[in-house]
Formats: sequence, C-alpha cells, structure tokens
Amino acid sequence: MENRAQWGTRAGFILAAVGSAIGLGNIWRFPAVAYENGGGAFFIPYLFALLTAGIPLLVMEFTIGHKYRGSAPLSFFRMNRKTEWLGWWAVLVSFVISTYYAVIIGWAMSYSVFAFNLSWGDDTEGFLFSEYLKLSVDPGQTGSLVPGVLIPLILVWLITLGVLFKGVKKGIEVANKIFIPTLVVLFMIIVIRAITLPGAAEGLQTFFEPDFSAITDSSVWVAAYGQIFFSLSIAFAIMITYSSYLPKKSDITNNAFIAGFSNSGFELLAGIGVFGALGFMASQSNVPVEEVVSGGVGLAFVVFPQIINEFPALNGLFGFLFFLSLVLAGLSSLISISETYVAGISEKFGISRNKAVGIGGGLAAVISLLFATQGGLFFLDAADYFINQFGVAFVGLVEVVVIAWFLRNLNDFQSHANGISDIRLGGWWKICLGVVTPVVLGYMMVDLFKKNLLKEFDTATGNYEGYADGFILFGGWFVAAFAIVMGFLMTLKRWDSKAFNEEKKEVS
Ligand code: ALA
Repeated sequence: MENRAQWGTRAGFILAAVGSAIGLGNIWRFPAVAYENGGGAFFIPYLFALLTAGIPLLVMEFTIGHKYRGSAPLSFFRMNRKTEWLGWWAVLVSFVISTYYAVIIGWAMSYSVFAFNLSWGDDTEGFLFSEYLKLSVDPGQTGSLVPGVLIPLILVWLITLGVLFKGVKKGIEVANKIFIPTLVVLFMIIVIRAITLPGAAEGLQTFFEPDFSAITDSSVWVAAYGQIFFSLSIAFAIMITYSSYLPKKSDITNNAFIAGFSNSGFELLAGIGVFGALGFMASQSNVPVEEVVSGGVGLAFVVFPQIINEFPALNGLFGFLFFLSLVLAGLSSLISISETYVAGISEKFGISRNKAVGIGGGLAAVISLLFATQGGLFFLDAADYFINQFGVAFVGLVEVVVIAWFLRNLNDFQSHANGISDIRLGGWWKICLGVVTPVVLGYMMVDLFKKNLLKEFDTATGNYEGYADGFILFGGWFVAAFAIVMGFLMTLKRWDSKAFNEEKKEVS
C-alpha cells in the first residue's frame, strides 16, 4: 500500500512544477540578464542551456523522485548509500535561498499596497533605500529590524507555511491551481499594456538586437546556464521532491518538456513586457533605452515604480497588478523551495509534516529576519549573488557527474522514464547529461574559480554599489562550506525506521 502523499491530478503536478519554476527569477532577473549578455544573441546560449542541460536535468530529477519516492536526501540515499549528502547539500542551498527569497516577496507585498496611491513619490530610489528599507548602516552591520519589512515578511511565512501544513494535495496543489492561472492572466494584462505604450517598440528593439560577439565570451554562457538552473528550479532538490509525490503511473518526459517550455515562455513574456515598459520610460524622459535598463532590486523596486508613475492612466491599478504578479510568482516558488527541507526533515527524523513545517519553516523564518534589518539588503544581495554564481550550477554539476560518471545510472533512468512516458528518451539525453552538461559546467566552474582566486572576480551585483570584495566572497564561501559540512553531518544520523522500511516496500 502506498502511504506517500500524492498529487490529485496530472495538471496539479504540472502546475506545481511550473509554479516552482516561474518565480522572481523570470520577472526580475531574466530581462536584465538577457540584455546584458548579448540581447537577441543571448538566446543562442540560453536555448542551448535549456535543451542540453535544463530539460534533460529536469527529466532526470523527475525520474529520480518518481523512482525512489523520497525527498532529495532520501532519494539519493536509496540510489546509493554514499550519495545522501548530495541531497542534503541541495536542500541546504534551497534553505538559504528561502531565507532571502521570502524577504523579496515581502517587499513586493508592501509595494502592491504602496501602488494604490503611488506612495513611493517621484524619488523612487530614495524611497526604497531610505524610507522603506531604512538602509543606513554599513555593509555587514545589521542595525535594527525594520517594521515595514518585518510585517509583510511574517505574512509571507504564514501563507507559505500554512500551505505546507495543509499537505501536498490540499495545500501545495490547491495553492498552485489558484496562483498560477491568476498570475498568467494578470501578467498578460500587464504585458499587453506595456507593449502598447508609446516607445515600447524601441524597448523591444533594444532587447532583441543581437550582439553576436557576446557568444564567444564565457561569462555569457555562465549567465545562460545560471539563469536556466535558477529559473527551472533544478539542482535545488525541488523537482525531486515534487516528483516523489507522483502516482506510480505518471508521465515524466512530456511533463518535463511542458514545464521547461512554459517556464521559458513566461520568461520571454517577462522580457517583452519589461523592455516594452523600459522603452516607454526612455521615450518619456527622452533618453536612449540603454540608460534606463537595470535588473534585480533596481528594476523591480526603483525603475518600475517610476514607470508606473508615468503611466497615462490607471497607474495605481497597473502598479498593484505588477507587484501582485511578483507576489504570486514568488509565493509559488517559495512553497516549493521550503517543501524540500520540510520533506527531508520529516523523513529523516520520522516526524509529522506539521512538526517538520514548524521546525524547518520556523528556522528559515527566524534566519530571514537578518534580511529584514536595516543592513538586510547588503546581506540579501551578497547571498543572492553568490548562490547564483556558484551555488546552484555547482550542485548541478556534481549531481550529473556523480550520476552519469560514477554511479552510471543513466541507462537505468532512461528505461524507467521510457517505461511510463509519452515521449521516449533517445541517446541524445544521455549525451547531454553524460558529456555536454558536465563539460560545459565543468569548464564554467574552473573558469569561475580561477577568476575568483586571481581576484578578477566581478563583484558588482547590479543591485547596490559599494561592497568590499571580501563581504560577498567571504560570507558566500562561509555559507557554502557550512552547507556541505552540514550535509555530511546529516548523513551520520540514521534514517528513521519508517522511511527506511518503506524503502523495501516501495522501490521497485
Ligand atoms: N525558479 C524560481 C525562480 O525563478 C526559484 O525564481
């Protein structure tokens, strides 16, 4: 008998996977990353990364979750006793991400309220940094908690943990069935409005204009892979956890293609909407589009409020819709990010889902308070930058190398996926995972480490200026090392006997 929680419907699973993938990364990161890395020409490395790494890895993670039916650590443990740490490592990276991701959703919540009467005023930058975030300390100092950030942050955690308390079918599935269709409708309204504004065409031209020289630059490829990994939620432990709730008779490969293409479709839509709006803003202030481009915090919380100020009509409404979209996209991703440790803790220690939500979610919520302090933006920016440069893609590299080269599981996974999926995986899938992805990611990582050691490392995060190099690098490495050590420590504890015994029952 299967005791494991399950999705109610195929659509429920797909919406949850798409909900995890579509997040802040699509709306605020992708447009700027694409623009800065060759514009139209960025689509070459981007599509290459999507087709040779993104979707193949998604198929692999869906297969692992479906076959071993456990959270990421338990699935890796069942695959081979010696690889459990890899699952914990991915879970811990997700844990760190959840602590700052929640805070950004909190900001977006505040801004959706500010939008109604445009309370950010004309100086949107001053408003964000001084009035809202109360950023008045040096990088590395915390100062006191900022109530305006703390209150929405508490709300974000209440919603996220509330959904997780309700479980897989009644909580996660229901939330995504509401959030994702709503998000798509809201976002379409915003994009249609943005591209019909005066000046939008120039914005789009700037976005799509290809700079083909960019594709010979290795950092552009790093950016493409980083974007695909973050955006598709791969190597985060998420997709393994979500697919472990699939019924035995489920499609894997087709679902992965649907999730991958929906995510990239949304990303492209976001790029079009954002650049349409930037074109409008540039034409209003009579400057070239290049001068108004930004990404991350600056794009969403400084430039967008300015654009909203200049909207010809219904400013408050469009402002509200934009920030509400960020909230919905963010929440559905945060739910999935947090589910990785909830599932891992519950299985490892044999405790109920509710207790695991309380302990894991509670701890993440407490740590996230760091980012709700006056110096929070510096910590947040550093954590985000480091995770994106090294964190996720590095876990992905180790994951494919261990599975394809050491355990040599790809043939087995291929037959597992082919046994139940509409689309049959051919040799291309094994070549992508066994050769292309490790070679490209390996090269990327060596390049990054070299630059890092030679201190040629680019520490400009694009969000806020003025850090000492050491702040990002030292802090980042400290957290990265801590995640790996913790991962190993977790493997010293034996699995609770319930999870352990189900192994014999469930793994076929
Ligand atoms: N995949 C999620 C995002 O894009 C984490 O934000």
